[in-house]
Order: sequence, then C-alpha cells, then structure tokens
Amino acid sequence: MESKFDQIKKLKEEKDAVILAHYYTEPEIQKIADYVGDSYFLSEKAREVKEKVIVMCGVSFMGESVKLLNPEKIILLPDMKADCPMAHMATVKKIEEVRKKYDDLAVVCYVNSTAELKAHSDVCVTSANALKIVKNLKNKNIFFIPDQHLARYISTKLLDKNFIFNDGWCHIHNDITKDDILKTKEKYPKAKVAIHPECPIESVKLGDYVGSTSGIIKYVSESQDEEFIICTEDGVLYELKEKNPNKKFYLPKSKVQCSGMKKITLDKIIDSLETLEPQVNLDNNIIKEANKPLENMLMMAR
Ligand code: 13P
Ligand code: SF4
Repeated sequence: MESKFDQIKKLKEEKDAVILAHYYTEPEIQKIADYVGDSYFLSEKAREVKEKVIVMCGVSFMGESVKLLNPEKIILLPDMKADCPMAHMATVKKIEEVRKKYDDLAVVCYVNSTAELKAHSDVCVTSANALKIVKNLKNKNIFFIPDQHLARYISTKLLDKNFIFNDGWCHIHNDITKDDILKTKEKYPKAKVAIHPECPIESVKLGDYVGSTSGIIKYVSESQDEEFIICTEDGVLYELKEKNPNKKFYLPKSKVQCSGMKKITLDKIIDSLETLEPQVNLDNNIIKEANKPLENMLMMAR
C-alpha cells in the first residue's frame, strides 16, 4: 500500500501544490512540508512560491495571511477549526476608540490576529521583527494588538515610545510562569533558558535568549552550551533535535501544546489536496485593506 507521504507527494504534483508548515505542527507534518518556519518566514515564503495551490499547515490566521498575500491562489487550511484564540482578542471598536484618543498613533498588529483586525491596523509585525519595526516607526504612541506580553517585552526596549497595551494573550505561553522556569532551572542548573516573547514579562526576564521560534532554533544551534530549557510550544523540539542531536532539551512544564496547530494531520492534508477544500476565502474589501499592513511589514522588516 502506498504510504501517506507518497500519496501527498503525488497529489502535490497533480494539483501543483506546495506545503508550508509552522514549527508547532506535529513532526510528520514538518517532515512532509516543503518549507517549515516561523510566522515571518512563512509570510515571506508564501509570496515567493510559484505553485497554484498553497497548503498552510498552521492555524487560521496563518491561512488568512497567505491568502492576503496571494489573493489569486487557492489556499488550503486542512482543518478550518485550527484556530489561535489570541487572534480574536482585540476589537475594531477598541482600535477606533484608541485612534480617537491619541494623536500620532500607530496601530501595530501582531500577525496572530484576524484579517479583520489587520484591515484596521497600520502595520503588522511578527515576534521576529516587532522590535525592529516599532523602533523605526515615526509615531510616538503605539497601540499594540492583540498580545500584551510581546508588547510589554518590546516596550522595555523602546523607552521613547508610549505603549497602549491590549488585553490579549496566548494561553500556552501565558501559562509558562517564572516559577515553572525557576523550578526547571533548579533541576538543570547548567541549562540556558530560551524563551518566546509571548510569555509573561517576569518569565521573559529569565531568558538567556528571547526570540521567535526560528530565533530560538538559531540560538540553540549556534550555542556552545549543551542543555536548554525551551520556553515555547513543544513542536520546536523536532527541529531542535534534528539540528542538535547531542544537545539536551527540557520543557518548563509537562505539556506545552497548541491544540490548534496539532489539529493538522497527514490524513487531513490528503483530504484537502484531493478535494481542494477547505479553502481560505476572504471578502475583497478585507483583502484590500488587510494586505497593506502585511506588505508594510515585509517592506520594513527587510
Ligand atoms: P513565531 O512567529 O515565533 O513562529 O510564533 C508564532 C506563534 O504562534 C507563537 O505562538
Ligand atoms: Fe496562537 Fe498560542 Fe497557538 Fe501561537 S501557540 S498559534 S499564539 S494559541
């Protein structure tokens, strides 16, 4: 019987499709993908690929971002229920209120957000480029949506800006507490702490390295150290172990998993390639408006 990997390979050729996957998906998804990366890498890659069909193995805001950057292509999200709760943790009403209240304001939208929120924002950022982009904005006042933790982290580096914080967070990263890290450090005192900036600021302060998923992988791979406490979703362990078979990795708690990302399976990829469903479709006005802050991001991050 043909393996699932072979079936996917054949279907990709038949349908002229390419597979993009985030580091938080299951190892077998990362193995079958043509490109694996963090949110920033995936947005850039989505614009470069030539295939007619893009299968986005990640959560819905990632599928939407690919559609915004490639409105003419067929974008498949193998499970439409793969969602990121934080992407919905801001409102257009709040953005409008803040715009009325502050002059000289930039609405900075973390890519982990719905297309509708992006459509009301000035520039998008990812955890890999947020610091660089916000630093280069001329505006004094920054309303950063939806993630309060990433906002707080970059605000500690940009003291000349006035940040307005939004009440949003990722429950997976929010749950990685200072105590979790200190307890793990007690067990493995030699281990370096690599942490994603979606974690609370008290936890981030304990990081030897703070950065996006690909930043964490690069830091660990280039380090002379041998043990690491990895403070982000456990999907990154696959690439970390592939690149660093002799290094040791510990999680700050027993389960650090994004249920949205883990919804993507090989069977669902096969189904979506066979049927070319479910497709990510967005209203034309949303595409027009939400594409601008994403393109601004890609320009400013270079
Ligand atoms: P990265 O941009 O670091 O890949 O993170 C995306 C994400 O969803 C973090 O929770
Ligand atoms: Fe969203 Fe958190 Fe999952 Fe990232 S890890 S996709 S922020 S729920």
